[in-house]
Amino acid sequence: MRTPEALRHRLNGFPRVRLGHFPTPLEEMERLGAHLSEELGRKIPALWVKRDDCTGVATGGNKVRQLEYSFGAAKAAGADTAVITGAVQSNYMRTAAAFAAKLGMECHVQLENRVEGMGEEYHKSGNVLLDRIFGARMHHFPLGEDEKAADTNLARIAERLKGEGRKPYLFTLSPDTKPTGALGYMQGAVELLEQAAADEIAFDAVVVPTGSAATHVGTLLGLRLAGYEGPVHGICVRRDAASQSERVRSILRLAEEMLSCGRIVEDDEVICRDDWLGPGYGKLVDSTREAIDLAGRLEALIVDPTYTAKSLAGLIGLTRAGTFAGMDNVLYIHTGGLPGLFAYRSALYPED
Ligand SMILES: Cc1ncc(COP(=O)(O)O)c(C=O)c1O
Repeated sequence: MRTPEALRHRLNGFPRVRLGHFPTPLEEMERLGAHLSEELGRKIPALWVKRDDCTGVATGGNKVRQLEYSFGAAKAAGADTAVITGAVQSNYMRTAAAFAAKLGMECHVQLENRVEGMGEEYHKSGNVLLDRIFGARMHHFPLGEDEKAADTNLARIAERLKGEGRKPYLFTLSPDTKPTGALGYMQGAVELLEQAAADEIAFDAVVVPTGSAATHVGTLLGLRLAGYEGPVHGICVRRDAASQSERVRSILRLAEEMLSCGRIVEDDEVICRDDWLGPGYGKLVDSTREAIDLAGRLEALIVDPTYTAKSLAGLIGLTRAGTFAGMDNVLYIHTGGLPGLFAYRSALYPED
């Protein structure tokens, strides 16, 4: 049976630490919708936002849902130390550092340098400042684009910690590891469909960012398992659409295996668009700036340059392109990223 209730039951079999604030609000972006409708001179669907920027822990974001299950697995394995790798301004590491603090665990973060030419505020403020405040031990890794090398170095750190008598748990996001974090977005899919049913809204399409792909895979597989058949548009924030689609498909298969649910999602249901990525991860382009500006001025929503401004630019771009023509309700999942904004102050306002 493909219902939210049946999926909730399935998810109950996985360990989870409950630290997030759920359900997150579901709101209509009326002023953004009116602005785009006026610009285009035609009716557009109602644009909704699922406020996963309000998941509660340490300024919120999508990583809270994911880490509830990853820390559940770490605790079940008897770990006392979280070992984790990500970009310098990683929301994943900041949120993990916060979970570890709350759960009384030690946390080691490996900061991968993925964005060249950034100044002191990028390397020291935003998420890095919060990592510090949450007591994370920092390790620096210069080769941010080499995912395998980053994971190998992380394993080395874990070995050293074992030698010191600790019980480390590796939080890797590489496409060959079990996608435990995706379970968080399956739970998010249950929450969303129950909320939509209570509010009597039927979504015709969903827009999510796609990076490590835990959000995309969890949302797509979760929605299908809960009975929703509409398109899920993944907006690339790290890789081009071809490599991202390949990544999403291979993680989908691992997620289906983890759930023992058989093949649920076909390859051609995976949609990845890289039109708003610009020159690459963490790099600002005009559509990123426009999304930050429109979200702020029209909706009092805060989106960050690396992730959520790009996915919102995707929602805006797809609306302009007529992709949602004839639809009534389109949902944008806001995945947070607030602290990262403060690492980009001078990139956003270079004249100051
Ligand atoms: C704020 C924010 N949004 C979106 C993403 C992308 O999500 P995922 O890594 O699950 O693909 C990230 C990843 O770090 C993020 O921090």
